[in-house]
Amino acid sequence: MTNRGSSSASPPDSSTRHQKKKHRKLGLLAAMPKLNRRRFYLALKVMLLFVVFGLYFVLLLRESMSAFSAGGRGKSSGKVEQHKPPAEGRLSRPIKAAGFQRPRQNSIHNHGGDDTLQSSKNHPQHDGITPNHSTLNPVYEYSEEMNAAAEADFTERRAMLWNVCADHRIIGKFAPNAWEFFISPGHGLAWCNIFKAASSTWMYYFNILGGYDVRYLQRTRASPIELARKRFPRPSTTELNDYLSNTISFLIVREPFERLVSAYRNKLEGCRNKYYKLLGEQIIKKFRKKIKDGEGRLITKYPKGPTFREFLQFLVAHYKSGGRFDEHWSPVYSFCTPCSINFTLIAKVETFQRDSEYIIRQAGLETLLLNKLPRGKARAIANRATSNTRNLVPRYFAQIDEQLLTEVLEIYQLDFELFGYNSTKYYSYVQETLDGAGR
Ligand SMILES: *[C@@H]1O[C@H](CO)[C@@H](O)[C@H](O)[C@H]1NC(C)=O
Ligand SMILES: *[C@@H]1O[C@H](CO)[C@@H](O)[C@H](O)[C@H]1NC(C)=O
Ligand SMILES: *[C@@H]1O[C@H](CO)[C@@H](O)[C@H](O)[C@H]1NC(C)=O
Repeated sequence: MTNRGSSSASPPDSSTRHQKKKHRKLGLLAAMPKLNRRRFYLALKVMLLFVVFGLYFVLLLRESMSAFSAGGRGKSSGKVEQHKPPAEGRLSRPIKAAGFQRPRQNSIHNHGGDDTLQSSKNHPQHDGITPNHSTLNPVYEYSEEMNAAAEADFTERRAMLWNVCADHRIIGKFAPNAWEFFISPGHGLAWCNIFKAASSTWMYYFNILGGYDVRYLQRTRASPIELARKRFPRPSTTELNDYLSNTISFLIVREPFERLVSAYRNKLEGCRNKYYKLLGEQIIKKFRKKIKDGEGRLITKYPKGPTFREFLQFLVAHYKSGGRFDEHWSPVYSFCTPCSINFTLIAKVETFQRDSEYIIRQAGLETLLLNKLPRGKARAIANRATSNTRNLVPRYFAQIDEQLLTEVLEIYQLDFELFGYNSTKYYSYVQETLDGAGR
C-alpha cells in the first residue's frame, strides 16, 4: 500500500519535477547571458576546427610516412626480392608485375588499415589510375615502352649468349673469377665489374649501397674501388655460388674494340700511372724497332708511350704466350665467364642509362639510386662512351694492317659474338691505311 501510495503519489510529483527541470533547462538557455551563449558557440567552432585540422594532419602524416617508408624500402624489399629465383619467366612477365608498380603497392600495403581513411577522392594519385606517376618521387619518368624494350633486349641478349656459348662448346669451360664480383646480398645484387665499360658509375652506385654518404663520395679523393671493396669484400667461389641463385646478377658490356681503345688511351697513351708507365716502356723495348709505315719505311719519330699498334702487337704476343691479361683489356668471356655463370641481366654501355634504370627497378632500389649521380658525371656518361671513343676508333685501327687485326680478333672475336657486336667494319678501317697515303 505504501508502495502504491508512494507510487501513486510520486508520479505527478516526478512529472512536475521533470517539467520543472525542462523549464529550468529552457529557461537556463533562454536566460543564459549573451556572453555565455557566444562562448558556447565559439567552443563549438574551435572544436570543429580541431577536427578539421586533425584530419588534415593525419593526411599529412600518412603522406610523409609513405615517403619515409619508400626511402627505407631499399633494404627491405631487396631482401624480399632475393628469394625470387632470377628466372626467365620473371623477365618476360608483363610490366605491371615487374618493378613498375611495386613501389606504390608496397607503400600502401605498409599502412594496412589506414587505407579506408584515404578515399580515392582525396588522393587520386594513390588509387592506381596513373601507375607510372607518383607525387612522392618525381623521378618516375621512365616509360613503360622503355621498360618493355629493355626487357625484350635482355631476353634476346641472354638467348644469343647461350647460343654462342653452345656453338663454341665453352659452357662451363672457364672457372668463374669470384674475386672480381661485387655482391650486396642485402640489396640482392651481384655485379661482375668489367673495367672500361661504364664501371665507375656502378662503382658509385655500390658505394651508395655500401652506405657512404653521397656528399662524401663527391668530395673524397679516395679511390672508389677501394672504398667499395671495404664494404663489399672479394667473395670466395663458394660465396659467389651461394649468392648467385638469390640475386640479380649482371654485367655491363661494351663494344670490344671501343673498350680496347678506351683502355689504351687511358692506361698507355698518357702513361701517368707508374705501373702502366713501366708496362709501356716494356712494350716499346720489345716492339718499337719493328714499326714501319705503310710504305715500309722505318718511322724515326716516336711518341713517348707505346703506339696503338705496338700495344696490339704486345697483346697478340701475350695471348700466344698464354699470359694473364690485365683487367682493363681482358676479354669478357674469360673475365666474367658468362658461359659459366648464368647472369640474370646483360647490360650494355650503348644502352647504359636505360639498362641501369631497369636493373635498379628490378632490384627495387629506385629511391636509393635513381638520380643520385652528380650532374657532371651523369652528363659525362651520356656523352663519353657513345661519341668520344667511337669517333676515335677508326683512326686508331688505321695504324694497323689486316694481319694484325686478324690476330687481335682471335683474342676478342668471341666477345663480339657473345654480346651481339659485329667486327666486320674493322677490316675497312685497316684497309684504308694500306690503300691511303700511309704514315
Ligand atoms: C639460366 O637460367 C635460366 C632461368 O633460370 C634458365 O632458363 C636457363 O636454362 C639457364 N641457363 C643455363 C645455361 O643454365
Ligand atoms: C603512363 O604510361 C602510359 C602508357 O605507357 C603513357 O601513355 C602515359 O603517358 C604515362 N603517363 C605518365 C604520366 O608518364
Ligand atoms: C656484320 O656486318 C656485315 C655488314 O656490315 C654483314 O655482312 C655481316 O653478316 C655481319 N656479321 C654478323 C655476324 O652479323
